[in-house]
Parts: sequence; C-alpha cells; structure tokens
Amino acid sequence: MAIDMDKLNAFMGGFVGDLGAAVHTGMVVIGERLGLYKALAPAPMTSTELAAKTSTDERYVREWLASQAAGGYVTYDDKTNKFSLTEEQAFALANEDSPAYLPGAFQLALGSLAAVPRIADSFRNGAGMGWHEHDEAVFHGCEKFFRPGYAANLVCSWIPALRDVKQKLEAGARVADVGCGKGASTILMAKAFPKSRFFGFDYHDKSIEAAREIAKRERIADRVTFEVAKAKEYPGKGYDLVAVFDCLHDMGDPVGAAAHVRSTLHPDGTWMIVEPFANDELKDNLNPVGRVYYSFSTLLCTPCSRSQEVGLCLGAQSGEARIREVVTQAGFGRFRRATETPFNIVYEARR
Ligand SMILES: C[S@@+](CC[C@H](N)C(=O)[O-])C[C@H]1O[C@@H](n2cnc3c(N)ncnc32)[C@H](O)[C@@H]1O
Repeated sequence: MAIDMDKLNAFMGGFVGDLGAAVHTGMVVIGERLGLYKALAPAPMTSTELAAKTSTDERYVREWLASQAAGGYVTYDDKTNKFSLTEEQAFALANEDSPAYLPGAFQLALGSLAAVPRIADSFRNGAGMGWHEHDEAVFHGCEKFFRPGYAANLVCSWIPALRDVKQKLEAGARVADVGCGKGASTILMAKAFPKSRFFGFDYHDKSIEAAREIAKRERIADRVTFEVAKAKEYPGKGYDLVAVFDCLHDMGDPVGAAAHVRSTLHPDGTWMIVEPFANDELKDNLNPVGRVYYSFSTLLCTPCSRSQEVGLCLGAQSGEARIREVVTQAGFGRFRRATETPFNIVYEARR
C-alpha cells in the first residue's frame, strides 16, 4: 500500500500535539501543587524570581516555565527574559473561583492514568474497578474540575430550568444529592438556598468524610448532612428534589437506582439528572469533547459500573435516548431535557 505523505505528515503533526498535551498533564499538576501559577499571576518574573517567591529550585522552574511557554499556558518576553500570565491564562490557571479553572481536570487525568495497568488487564478479564479503588487524585481532581462548572451553571441556570424547583428551594425544601462525591454540588445548593435541607449520599466513605469537612469549614453543616449510602439504598422519603451529578452512568444498576429515587421522591418532586454532554449516535460524539469523555469513561466510569451489581455500563456518552430508557424503565412518567452546556445535559424526570 502506498503511503500518502501529506496524510502521514498531518497525522504526525496531530501526534506531536497530543504527546505534548499528555506530558503537559504532569506539568500543570506540578504548577498547581507548588503554587507556581498563582505566584506568577500578579507580575512578570524571571525564573529566578519565581523560584525565590515559591521556595523552589530555579533550574527546575526554568525548565517548567519553558514547557509552559511552549504550550501557551505562560507568556514569554524574550526582551526581558521574563514570564507572565495574561488575564485569560491567570483566569484559567491561577483563580480557583473562576468558572474556567483548569488544573483539576489535569489532576483527574493524571490520577485516572495511574489505573492504566489494571484497566489493561480488565480488557482481558472483564473485571471492574470501583471508584474507591482509584488514586486519590481522582477524587480531588474530580471535585476541583467539576466545581467551577457547577458554580457557573447550577444555581443560575440549571435549577431555574426545572419546573417549580427554584421556588420550592427558596421557600424551604428537602433535597438529596446522590453520588455526591466530595459534595461540590450539594454545598453550592446549600449556600444558595439557606431555607432548604440538603442530604448528600455517596458509597465512597473517603469522599463523604471530605465533604463533611468542607461543610464544616463553610459553616453550613447545620443544613447539610453527608452520609455513606448506595444509590439504591439511601435513606429518607418525600424529597422535593433528588439530584445526581455525573454519576448515573457510573452506577452498576442505574435502573435500580432510578426506581429507588422514584420511591424516595415526594409525589410532586423532581429528579434532576446531570450527565456528560453526549449525542445518541457514536458518529456524532467523535469530537474533542467526546474524546475526553470516552477516555475517562474507559478508565473510570465503565469499570466503576462493571464493579457493581448488574454492571450495565452505560458509559459516559450514553446520550438522551439511552438515559430516557433507564428513567422510564424505572417507572417515571415524564422525562425531558431541561437545558445543556457544551459539557453537560440536564434532564428533568417526574413521577
Ligand atoms: C464522577 S463522580 C461525581 C461526583 C459528584 N457527583 C460530582 O459531580 O462532583 C461519580 C461518583 O459516583 C459515586 N458512585 C458510583 N456508584 C455509586 C453508587 N452505586 N451509589 C452511590 N454513589 C456511587 C462515586 O463514588 C463518585 O463519587
């Protein structure tokens, strides 16, 4: 077969970008852990100045800065030999409260990749791997990655897109956040709706312990409770809102979980299902966002589901039609897409 050199060169060009991005994952995690981005944000600096400010070794910092400047995460001025962050770079890399804060995504990626040897074995033996079995960077990175998106959308856009829910939460409602992880979504809602009572549940004890600590620190432990519980077993009845954020597809038995949600809802209550953005057809997910989700799904979501009873393995890109099947199989009468962002779809289900 004749190789088309133009096509090969284009493919290799893409590969160089990908390889740089793969190694860049570790660079961002180092930059965040050592406070390099935050220290660089206020003013341009040489590597010597940045190393002094962060109590780090200048030679390592110089090499790291060069990698960052080559990747467009840091700006370099060859006249002054100084490095700096533009407003946009600082917004995404040095400001943890910004809706575009990126380092958590790389922490999640690095933590997930630690599972590669075991997941490669799973391709042969079909074994699952529970969320709790991953490197702890997965739990912290997940929370850090998802929180900015929730902060930007949950209270101002997603909840208002659900019928009557905002009014109920303002007046005082009972809310369960199932598969809450470290509670980023639970805590945001509890802060926004002080008259309501929030219950976060997750089967992973370490995430629940961390969520409790954060609630205490944020001084909202009076209206938020975190408990270790599986989605098919969490306690309580008559919830006005049950929410699942980016976890229905991780469950082994999402239909069983959906049936339990239905049984714990107030007859007029709402189930909010936040899932990764996905189209129904594979061909329509073959884009950069789909690549991110299918890869995380191979390392985290599919093995997590496989590790639990039933092991349905929806995957992170199941799409609206498949989620509708799960929800209606569990007995819900109404289901609709309430809203979406480039990264998430928000569904509303009612009994
Ligand atoms: C991708 S994380 C999302 C965490 C959190 N909802 C968020 O958005 O930050 C998936 C979560 O689902 C939890 N999970 C998976 N299967 C579960 C189950 N059967 N019951 C309860 N939680 C489950 C995991 O422990 C993990 O915290």
